[in-house]
Amino acid sequence: MKLFPNLEKAYTEEHLTAPEAQSRAYMIAFGPIVFQVGRLMIKFGILDLLRDSDKGLTQEEIVGKTGLTPYAVKVLMEGSLCIGLVLVDTATDRFSLSKTGWFLLNDPAIRVNIDFNHDVNYEGWFKLEEALKEGKPSGLEHFGNWPTIYEGLSQLPEQVKKSWFGFDHFYSDGSFEQALDIVFSYKPQNLLDVGGNTGRWALQCVNHDDKVNVTIMDLPQQLEMMREFTKGQKGSERVGGYGINMLDDSQQFPTDKHYDIIWMSQFLDCFGENEILSILSRAAKIMDADSRLCIMETFWDRQKYTPAAFTLTMTSLYFTALANGNSKMYHSSDMEAVVNKAGLKVEKIHDGLGLGHSIMVCKK
Ligand SMILES: C[S@@+](CC[C@H](N)C(=O)[O-])C[C@H]1O[C@@H](n2cnc3c(N)ncnc32)[C@H](O)[C@@H]1O
Repeated sequence: MKLFPNLEKAYTEEHLTAPEAQSRAYMIAFGPIVFQVGRLMIKFGILDLLRDSDKGLTQEEIVGKTGLTPYAVKVLMEGSLCIGLVLVDTATDRFSLSKTGWFLLNDPAIRVNIDFNHDVNYEGWFKLEEALKEGKPSGLEHFGNWPTIYEGLSQLPEQVKKSWFGFDHFYSDGSFEQALDIVFSYKPQNLLDVGGNTGRWALQCVNHDDKVNVTIMDLPQQLEMMREFTKGQKGSERVGGYGINMLDDSQQFPTDKHYDIIWMSQFLDCFGENEILSILSRAAKIMDADSRLCIMETFWDRQKYTPAAFTLTMTSLYFTALANGNSKMYHSSDMEAVVNKAGLKVEKIHDGLGLGHSIMVCKK
């Protein structure tokens, strides 16, 4: 398996001491409750209180400030101590925030992931075993009876939708600015945004270049949401929609004009490898020597830091249990192999956009 040099060491050599390894194994055994304690320490404002206190807080003071019962505070604080979220001064019994607690509280990516994991995934992951065996998103059933989460996105409960879109936008939004420079270096007149979702990228494009036209290809119900979001926004008259279900092999890419750039951002991770092959083969049909296909993905092997690779390989299991049962965050070599099978070639890979995106530029 080919890994990026930065990840090489963490994944090829045993680097933990025996007690560290054992602690990690215990963290896994109690994973669900470790997660809930961390989440509630944020939600109940206890970590905020600890950060803002100069000399730390006793349990009684936390009870007074939060309105929680002494029992609730005791179990949360004792658990947090052993997880490593807080530290205690044994002379005064005052608690303070640890480094881990600080990150849990202040790292925006962690907050987005906590909301996503609690609101969207938590109950569904209970069905991971079934999903892995059957290749279908068994954990989606409690939200609705759709074959994949995408058909149901617009109908998810408000809080679930908020966390899903919060997660999705958080990652792609941070890369759009650098992506614009790469994509517009090809001077496109017409851009096809496949899986354009709510139109955030399309709006950035039409504002970046006052001539470019963008066509968003997405599921018809998603296009309705896109029209609502883009309505009245500057440049939206140059954003069009093309409804399609990419899982239906007979549905083709538009041939109404020459698309200089076919853009797929965080899109192919919604599909299994055979489905990607079918999508890319259909894309290749409308490409000529001047067209470029730009695939923006968070490839787990091309991350600089291990927490990013960790986040991505764990997120793969959201795809398994909730999204569709057969897709994932891909290794770049797996994606390149499918690109080649579809009759395309990788021209260049740009790494290090935003929080860990790469753009794989492909040509015919
Ligand atoms: C994860 S979102 C990516 C959104 C956006 N491109 C971004 O970078 O933030 C995936 C998009 O693919 C669309 N999609 C999923 N399955 C689809 C299908 N079978 N046919 C067409 N679009 C689909 C979803 O509706 C959604 O807009």
